[in-house]
Amino acid sequence: MSNVRELFRLDGKVAIVTGAAYNLGFDMAIGLAELGADIVITSRMLSKAQEAADKIKTACHVDMLALQMDHSDWGQVEDMAEKAHAWKEHIDILINNAGGRTEHVESNLFKRPPESIVDMIHTNLIGPLFCCKAVGRFMMEQGWGKIINIASIAGLVGRNRRMYKRNNKGDQPIDYAAAKAGIIGMTRDLAGLMSPYGVYVNAISPGGFDKGDCPEGFVKDYSDVTILGRMGRMGLDIKGAAVFLASSASDYVTGHNLVVDGGFTIWK
Ligand SMILES: NC(=O)c1ccc[n+]([C@@H]2O[C@H](COP(=O)([O-])OP(=O)(O)OC[C@H]3O[C@@H](n4cnc5c(N)ncnc54)[C@H](OP(=O)(O)O)[C@@H]3O)[C@@H](O)[C@H]2O)c1
Repeated sequence: MSNVRELFRLDGKVAIVTGAAYNLGFDMAIGLAELGADIVITSRMLSKAQEAADKIKTACHVDMLALQMDHSDWGQVEDMAEKAHAWKEHIDILINNAGGRTEHVESNLFKRPPESIVDMIHTNLIGPLFCCKAVGRFMMEQGWGKIINIASIAGLVGRNRRMYKRNNKGDQPIDYAAAKAGIIGMTRDLAGLMSPYGVYVNAISPGGFDKGDCPEGFVKDYSDVTILGRMGRMGLDIKGAAVFLASSASDYVTGHNLVVDGGFTIWK
């Protein structure tokens, strides 16, 4: 197989995308579906997962399965993986997308409640690791799989707090950066552990995407310090990276962290 169209095809593959009811997870799920993959969408609320699944089915005519899961609970993760596997008896792709900010409490480390720190690490590091464990087992048994862990540039560089402060964006939790750096380390080590079983493990580190909820001044300041002069576009800029790492087009890539940030992290 050498035709690049063939390398990118995902027909007949089953992909799980966690936390994909909307935003970046939804974008990646629809990207995989556009190339023919059947998709399992998870959310903590089944109705939200079902709504997103219905939208993708209408747009792409692939098979969809909606499942409820809170990935900070091992029992729910195991249950999700078993149901996803029972659906078509294989799981080929896992995008560990669920995560992000957990709650709107004080973010400054020195005022932040310890339980919020623990919750953040559970949501952004332990949950994705649980999903790698529960789903990775099926991939190892079948001898093929692609795992993509969604990290963040916050796991690579410190944040410019002056930019956040002057635009009233509040403080940025240190524990989020710690968890996302953990995802990048976990990805590298897991790639080595799983390569003898034909399972590829990579990460994507997005930069700031404009979800329409950022103050205008922040969008301008952030764009000014980004090589491409803009924030990431929803519905567009994450999809290519996800389909590349999910498909056979990336069959000589493992343990990699693909930075999708418009050049934010390389410009000083
Ligand atoms: N947006 C950005 O600019 C940006 C930049 C860098 C990295 N990222 C990362 O990219 C990923 C997606 O970002 P996003 O902005 O699209 O995030 P988002 O809108 O906050 O969506 C993330 C989803 O994760 C799910 N989730 C949260 N806690 C969970 C838990 N305990 N168990 C299961 N699911 C849980 C939620 O789904 P339900 O509420 O439906 O359960 C939520 O919709 C996140 O990992 C984020 O850290 C985003």
